[in-house]
Amino acid sequence: MSDQPRMTVEKPWTGRFTEPTDAFVEAFGASVGFDQRLWRQDITGSMAHARMLAEVGVLTAEERDAILQGLEQIVGEIERGEFTWSIALEDVHMNIESRLTALIGVAGKKLHTGRSRNDQVATDIRLWLRDEIDTVLAELGRLRGGLIDLAEREAESVMPGFTHLQTAQPVSFGHHMLAWEAMLARDAERLVDCRRRVNRMPLGSAALAGTSYPIDRTLTARLLGFGGICENSLDAVSDRDFAIEFTAAAALIMTHLSRFSEELILWSSAQFDFVDLGDAFCTGSSIMPQKKNPDVPELVRGKSGRVFGHLTALLTLMKGQPLAYNKDNQEDKEPLFDTVDTLRGSLRVYADMIPRMTLKHAHMREAARRGFSTATDLADYLVRKGVAFRDAHEIVGRAVRLGVDSGRDLAELALDELRQFSDQIDDDVYQVLTLEGSLAARDHLGGTAPTQVRAACAQARERLAG
Ligand code: ARG
Repeated sequence: MSDQPRMTVEKPWTGRFTEPTDAFVEAFGASVGFDQRLWRQDITGSMAHARMLAEVGVLTAEERDAILQGLEQIVGEIERGEFTWSIALEDVHMNIESRLTALIGVAGKKLHTGRSRNDQVATDIRLWLRDEIDTVLAELGRLRGGLIDLAEREAESVMPGFTHLQTAQPVSFGHHMLAWEAMLARDAERLVDCRRRVNRMPLGSAALAGTSYPIDRTLTARLLGFGGICENSLDAVSDRDFAIEFTAAAALIMTHLSRFSEELILWSSAQFDFVDLGDAFCTGSSIMPQKKNPDVPELVRGKSGRVFGHLTALLTLMKGQPLAYNKDNQEDKEPLFDTVDTLRGSLRVYADMIPRMTLKHAHMREAARRGFSTATDLADYLVRKGVAFRDAHEIVGRAVRLGVDSGRDLAELALDELRQFSDQIDDDVYQVLTLEGSLAARDHLGGTAPTQVRAACAQARERLAG
């Protein structure tokens, strides 16, 4: 960015001013350092605006064509890195407009007819965010696809399911993966819904009240692929609820990824030893040669905090603003940009990592077996033999205590040992005490039986494609 001496670049609003802007105020107030990221959307919006102005007779066809050609040339200059961004020109909008006028003369000065930077910037952000949502949805889809594939492959793999991080009941590893997929599927729904409200056009609201030119907003909206227009001009230039909504959806995705990360970190510890995340996703220690650290999930867990912070920042940014546009809104961009970058990065690394994770099936089975995870199955067995559930619970509790005291699992207790707690127990009990038996018994919609898991995978795949 050039820091050219002030007043060498002419600001578009110097008419009513007699003194130049204070040097520090100029730097303090400039957004071009970050909003130049919106340059492509700014030019796309300007092209549509110029086309519309010509259509309604505010610009001549020659003026329109000069504007379009000039803007095309600017696209090339920016893409080739030849464009000089100037802080004195404050933001992306004035930088581009000023260059256009330098290139094509007076026609360039007519581009801003019937619009304001207030509706321009709101339009740019919405165009940008709309595309970013599509990219996020694609990454989210890639991750969900990976989870469904994994779930299908591992439908029969047994792991301990937890409540309170204590071994609870055996579950299918595939079932566990589908739980994460279900959360991400709702996240995708939220983004699709949010996109509908992002995809409305503020342009035409001008500074706040609309414009006295005979503009055709519907035409501009169609040219830009908007699903509709923002109906109230004051609202259109002022509210950033669409950005807040997106950031809230992003915060939820990060919450889900952070929880998932927590599991992967635990599971790759020597104490759990359920999974190996793959060398490509871990780092070593500079001092402890044995270490392989789960950096990727740790970083994602850590990065979730940034997005929660951005959500709070945007809510706070908005809450005190009277209608309509206020300069406060310039502060919307950095939190939004960083939210998108953080989210895209986290989803990408997860989508890459999940298919390359390897499972330690024997360890997971052993952990499920060791934790008396089939105790509920024994209680259900007794209920089927006519024992009341509360009594069955008590009986099994005593059997578990014997197991704990003698260092054995329920399935390792002899029949006569088990029968001392209830004479309803016969030798068919060993079927229900197996991990496979426990899984297979939960054979209903949403249950962990491998047949249900495979059916759920098919459904999830359909939902993902649809
Ligand atoms: N850079 C400003 C922003 O990001 C553009 C709109 C400025 N409008 C104004 N009236 N100063 O919000």
